[in-house]
Amino acid sequence: MITGKYPSLRLRRTRKYDWSRRLIQENNLSSSDLIYPIFLIEGKNKKQPIKSMPGVYRYSIDKLGKVISNVIKHEIPMVALFPSTPNNKKDNYGSEAFNEDNLVCKALRYIKKRFKNNIGVMSDIALDPYTTHGHDGLLKNNFVVNDETVDVLIKQSILQAQMGCDVIAPSDMMDGRIGKIRKSLDKNKFYDVQILSYAVKYASNFYGPFRDAVGSKKSLKGDKKNYQMDFSNSNESLREVALDIKEGADMVMVKPGLPYLDIIQKVKEHFKIPVLAYQVSGEYSLIKNGIKNKLIEEDSIIESLLCFKRAGASAIVSYFALDIAKKIKI
Ligand code: PBG
Repeated sequence: MITGKYPSLRLRRTRKYDWSRRLIQENNLSSSDLIYPIFLIEGKNKKQPIKSMPGVYRYSIDKLGKVISNVIKHEIPMVALFPSTPNNKKDNYGSEAFNEDNLVCKALRYIKKRFKNNIGVMSDIALDPYTTHGHDGLLKNNFVVNDETVDVLIKQSILQAQMGCDVIAPSDMMDGRIGKIRKSLDKNKFYDVQILSYAVKYASNFYGPFRDAVGSKKSLKGDKKNYQMDFSNSNESLREVALDIKEGADMVMVKPGLPYLDIIQKVKEHFKIPVLAYQVSGEYSLIKNGIKNKLIEEDSIIESLLCFKRAGASAIVSYFALDIAKKIKI
C-alpha cells in the first residue's frame, strides 16, 4: 500500500500551502449536511433562553417565520421540531401528543403553509415531551410496555403526517414500530412520508440539557435502560439497523454523536443506506462552554461536525447547525 519512503517521500510536501491542502481534502462539510433542531413553546412573541444550552432558545410559533427563513437562506435542508409542553398538559398517557392543536402540530401546519417544500420538517415520534413520568412510552408497573406503546405511536405518526410532516422520526426505541408505522402511513396514503428511524439510540448520559429544554428532566422517573441501548454494545447496533431497514426505514440515526463515531462507521460499512448522526445536547453544551471559557478554539465546532462526515454520516442533527451554516461556504 505504501509506496516510496523518506527522504524521497515527504507527506508534509502536500500540506505546505492552503491550496494544496484543499486539493487533497478527503471530506468536507456543507450546509446541506446539517439539520437544525428547534424547541417550541406556547405563547406569543417568545424567544426564551435555555439555561443548560447557552445560545439555544425556545420559540413561540409566531417567531418561526424568521427562524425558518434564516435556515432556508443558509441552505440547511431540514429542521427538527421538539415541543416544551406545559406541565398542565402532561398526563400519564401523553394524551397531548394526539391533540391536533399541540405545539408540534401547529408548527408543522405553520411551516408547511408558509414555506411549502422549500424546507423539510422532521418531528419526533415518542411520548416523553407529553408524559408526567417523562418516558417515551406507556408505563405499566413501572415498565415501558412495547406493543401498547407502538399502537399509540402509530396514532402520533398519522397525526403528524396529516399536519404536513415530511420525515417521521421515531426516537422511542420500541421493537417493531417502524414496520407498523410504515404500514399505517401507506394505508392512509402517506406513501411519500419518509421514516428516519432512531435505530441506534443509546441510554446516554449526554441528554440532560435536552430533557431540561423540553421540560422532562425533573419529571423523569428512573432511566431509559430497558428500551435504549447499552453503551457497552456495538454489534447490537447492526441488529437494530437490520430490523429497521427490513421494516421500511428510509434512513437511520445513530445517537449520541461524537462518542459513537465507531458505530456510525460500522453501520455505514455494513448497510449502504443514509446514516444520520445526532450531536446531542450534552455534546453541544460541553463544546459551547469550552469555547466560552476559552478552553478550546471556536473551530472545534467545525472539526466536530466534519468528523461525523469522515465517519460516514450523510447528515448531522446539531444545535450548531445555523451558526455553522452562516460560516461555511456551500
Ligand atoms: C426523546 C429524545 C431525547 C432526545 C431526542 N429525543 C432524549 C431522551 O431520549 O431522553 C435527546 C436529544 C439531545 O440530547 O439533544 N424522545
